[in-house]
Order: sequence, then C-alpha cells, then structure tokens
Amino acid sequence: MRMKDYAEMFNESYQRALAFRDEGPQFLDRFYEIFFSKSPEIAELFETTHMGAQKTMLQDSLFYMRDFFIHRTANDYMERVAKVHGKAGRNARPELYDVWLESLIEAARECDPVFTDDIELAWKIALSPGITYMKHMYDRY
Ligand code: HEM
Repeated sequence: MRMKDYAEMFNESYQRALAFRDEGPQFLDRFYEIFFSKSPEIAELFETTHMGAQKTMLQDSLFYMRDFFIHRTANDYMERVAKVHGKAGRNARPELYDVWLESLIEAARECDPVFTDDIELAWKIALSPGITYMKHMYDRY
C-alpha cells in the first residue's frame, strides 16, 4: 500500500485553498463566514475583532498547529494562543473546537479544487494534536 504523509497532504491542500481565487469569498473569509453561521455564541465572541488581523493570525497559527503535529513539542506560540482562548480569557469552550474544525474543513472542501475524503482525513489528523492541546488548556487559563 502506498504510504501517505498526512502532514504533507494537509499542507498541500491548505496551500491550494489559500491560493484559490473565485468570484466568492476566499478561503479564510469563507471559513469565518461558515464558523460564525454555526452559532450566535461564536459570532458574538468575535464582535469587536479586527478581522483583517485575525485572518493573518489564523494563517500563522495553522502552521504552528502542523508543526505541533510533526514535532509533538509544545512551543511558546501554542501556549500563548491557548491562554488567549482559555476560560479566563476569551472563553472558547472545548466543544467549539469541533465546530471550528468542521467549519475549516467545509471551507477547504469549497476552496481546494482537488479535495478528497482522504484529504479531509489529513486535515483532521494534522490539526487534532493542537486542538487536543487547546481543549486541555481551557480550564488552566
Ligand atoms: C485550534 C483552533 C484555533 C486556533 C488555531 C485559533 C487561533 C487563534 C489565534 C492565533 C488568535 C489570535 C491570538 C492573539 O491575540 O494573538 C485567536 C483569537 C481568537 N480566537 Fe481562536 N483559534 C482557534 C479556535 C477558536 C475557537 C474554537 C474559538 C471559539 C469560538 C475561538 C475564538 C477566538 C477569539 C474570540 C479570539 C480573539 C479575537 C480578538 O482578538 O478579538 N478560536 N485564535
């Protein structure tokens, strides 16, 4: 059986999604549109957010999430971002991370022209350790 490198499959799909241009909103805009539409609680959390800066930060953070999957080493960046999201911070409840991933995959399916079921699995595998880390830190911060 051919070996699959899920980190690479995720990265390539992510790059295609970012590069995708169409009449409609681009990948990161589409992600936030989908994410906000999932629940008023989510939209409210971002009410005062500068979305331009937010999109750049999300873009950076996905690289750190993949890095965490590959090296399994928590970096200062991950710790700082977990703190921002914790109970005493923005209060991003652990359940919302599942909605976050679902929304990201929906946007990727729209924007990566060669998206497949296997690529969906690659997104899930590559991002799961980072999501587990963030969820676990919720009570701590
Ligand atoms: C693993 C998944 C996630 C990643 C990688 C991520 C990434 C980020 C990053 C990098 C920032 C900017 C932090 C900074 O201020 O420097 C941020 C801010 C924020 N995130 Fe997340 N996030 C994730 C999941 C979520 C979830 C599930 C929610 C809940 C709805 C959420 C809500 C927020 C809010 C409210 C902010 C602050 C926006 C502001 O500054 O106004 N995030 N996120």
